[in-house]
Amino acid sequence: MTKQYRWAILGCGKIARKFAEDLKLLPNAVLYAAASRNLKRAQQFANEIGFEKAYGSYTELVEDPKVDIVYIATPHSHHHEHALLCLTHKKATLCEKAFAINAREAREMIACAKENNTFLMEAFWTRFQPAFLKATEILESEKLGKLKMVRSDFAFNAEKDASQRLYNIDLGGGSLLDIGIYPIFASLMALGKPTEIKTHTQFGFTNCEESIIMSFKYANNAMASLVSSFASHSSIQTEYWCEQGYLRLNKRWFANAQISIWEKGMELEEVVPVEPIEGKGYQYEAAHVMQCLDAGKIESDMMSFQITLDQLEILDRVRADAGIVFPKHDFKSPNENELLAKRAE
Ligand SMILES: NC(=O)c1ccc[n+]([C@@H]2O[C@H](COP(=O)([O-])OP(=O)(O)OC[C@H]3O[C@@H](n4cnc5c(N)ncnc54)[C@H](OP(=O)(O)O)[C@@H]3O)[C@@H](O)[C@H]2O)c1
Repeated sequence: MTKQYRWAILGCGKIARKFAEDLKLLPNAVLYAAASRNLKRAQQFANEIGFEKAYGSYTELVEDPKVDIVYIATPHSHHHEHALLCLTHKKATLCEKAFAINAREAREMIACAKENNTFLMEAFWTRFQPAFLKATEILESEKLGKLKMVRSDFAFNAEKDASQRLYNIDLGGGSLLDIGIYPIFASLMALGKPTEIKTHTQFGFTNCEESIIMSFKYANNAMASLVSSFASHSSIQTEYWCEQGYLRLNKRWFANAQISIWEKGMELEEVVPVEPIEGKGYQYEAAHVMQCLDAGKIESDMMSFQITLDQLEILDRVRADAGIVFPKHDFKSPNENELLAKRAE
C-alpha cells in the first residue's frame, strides 16, 4: 500500500494557496495542517482549502509529531530561519525558491539537514515540469547539435507597493531572487556554472534592484543572455540556440510551456508535443518529495543540494557585479562598501 504523508504549510500567503490546491491531486498527500503568524489567518486558510488543523505560530506546527512534511512558503529572507526550525524538529522540508538569500545561508541549511538526517529540497518546480524535462531531453540528445547560447527572460510590471515583499529589501526584494532566478536556472541546467558574469542593473523606488540584464560566458565558449524585471512585461520565454537549430520554451516557459523547435533545412518551426498538466503544476515537486521519502533519502537526486548551491553561488556573483546587497543577511565584508559605492554611482 502506498504510504500517506501528512503535509503542513508554513506561511499562508499567495503561493501556499496554489501549492496546497495542487497537493489535492496527489492520493498519498494528506492536507494536515497550516500555520500562520496569526491564528485567524491559519484557520481561514485551513478551512478554505481543507486542512485538518490550524496553528497560530510556526513553532506549534513543527512541534506537532503528526506532521511529516513542511512546505515553507515565507519570503526568501526567512527561508534560512524557517528551514532550521523544521529540520531541527526532524520534519522533511520543501523550501520555496529562492532557497536562501545567499550561498552561506544555503550551506548552513544543507548542513542542518545532514546533521538531523532529515530530507530537504528547494521547491524549484520548473525542474519537474514536463515541458522543461522534454526540452532538456532534446538538448541532451544533441539532435540540434551543440548548445551555444541560452537566451531567457522573466519580467512583469509589478505593483509599486513598498509594503509587499517584491519591493522590500528586508524581505529579499528585487526581481533577481524572485524571478531572475528562473533564467539563471535555465542556463545552469544546460551549461553549468559560468566563468564570467557581467550585469547591468536598474534600481527601483525603494532602492531595490528592479531590472537586471546578465551576460554569462562559459569555459566551452557558450554564452547566456538573461533578463528579469519588475518594470515591464516580457514574453517570458527561454531559447536554446544550437549549431544545427534552436529550441524555444514558449510563454510561461518555467511551467506549462509549449515547445517549438527549428532545425536547419526546415521551412517552419515545429511544435513538440508535451503532456498537458493538471492543476498549476506544483504537484510534480510534491510527488517527488514523497518518492524520495519512500526511498529513505534526505536529498533529491533531481534537485540536489549541489544544484541549489551552484544556483546561490551564481546569484551571489551576479549580486557582487551588480552591487545588490541585503544588509540584514550579507556578511559585512571589505568589499561591501565597494558594492554600496558602486550602487550609488
Ligand atoms: N514556485 C513558485 O511558482 C513561486 C511563486 C510565487 C512565490 N514563490 C516563492 O514563495 C515565497 C513566498 O511568496 P508569496 O508570493 O507567497 O509571498 P506572500 O504572499 O507575501 O506570502 C508570504 C507569507 O510568508 C509569511 N511571512 C512570515 N514572515 C513574514 C514577514 N516578515 N513578512 C511577510 N510575510 C511573512 C506570511 O504568512 P503568515 O502571515 O500566514 O504567517 C505571508 O503570507 C517566496 O520565497 C517566493 O519566491 C514561489
